[in-house]
Amino acid sequence: MDKVTPKYLKKKKKEGEKVVLLTAYDFTTAKIEDEAGIDVILVGDSYGTAVLGYSSTLEVTMQDMIPIVGAVRRGAKRAMVIADMPYMSYQTSMENAVLNAGTFMKMGVDAIKLEGGLVVKETVTRLVDIGIPVMGHIGMTPQSYKIFGGYCVRGKTKSDLARLIEDAKILEESGAFSIIVECVLEEATKRITEKVNIPIYGIGAGRHCDGQILVISDIIGISPGPSPRFVKEYLNLQTRIMDAVTKYKEEVENGSYPNSAHTYHT
Ligand code: KIV
Repeated sequence: MDKVTPKYLKKKKKEGEKVVLLTAYDFTTAKIEDEAGIDVILVGDSYGTAVLGYSSTLEVTMQDMIPIVGAVRRGAKRAMVIADMPYMSYQTSMENAVLNAGTFMKMGVDAIKLEGGLVVKETVTRLVDIGIPVMGHIGMTPQSYKIFGGYCVRGKTKSDLARLIEDAKILEESGAFSIIVECVLEEATKRITEKVNIPIYGIGAGRHCDGQILVISDIIGISPGPSPRFVKEYLNLQTRIMDAVTKYKEEVENGSYPNSAHTYHT
């Protein structure tokens, strides 16, 4: 199968076919997702809360992201790999945004993602101008959760919906090839999707999107905290790991591991 590119995603939208996106934070998971046919693998800054035990994505740094971006890139062959720009890696200056996005591009990713609409207009324009494909992210953008007063659902008022539509249009005009819409009322997301021509991928944004994205740790049941309503758990890995670890502990303690089969002999 051909490598997934922005052109391919555009074609899928035109043909009305759904795109499947998922996060990954390591080589093995990226390889599994790629082999399973996931179209887009996002190395999300959700890594901070899902894996590193941070209280929010605000704590994630470029230093945290660089090794895992490399690992995921090496694990994926067909899937498009997108690196998430961590908090304060693109907001401080244009120079920082270009340098940090460029760092990810030099590692071989296919695109970068950043949060916001109007506020990142010039940054998106500049990155696209210098050849960096950009995915936008609007709605309940986790890097701004303190402004919203927590992780809330957006698009509930006329003015909020108007703002989201405006942000989506700005991202499209600035050259973004797609947009993630997070935690937005289904009816509002439908309106946003109708107002732009680039693909809209939802997370907690209902059914009227061009595709869906979820966090890998949530769908395999290994997330540290309670999951939001939009998450569907396809496996409870936490219980499976607990069973395996408990069994291993028992067997070491009662002497049944290692047995002869797990032991080197002369
Ligand atoms: O960091 C992340 O995982 C995201 C989501 C869109 C899932 O930004």
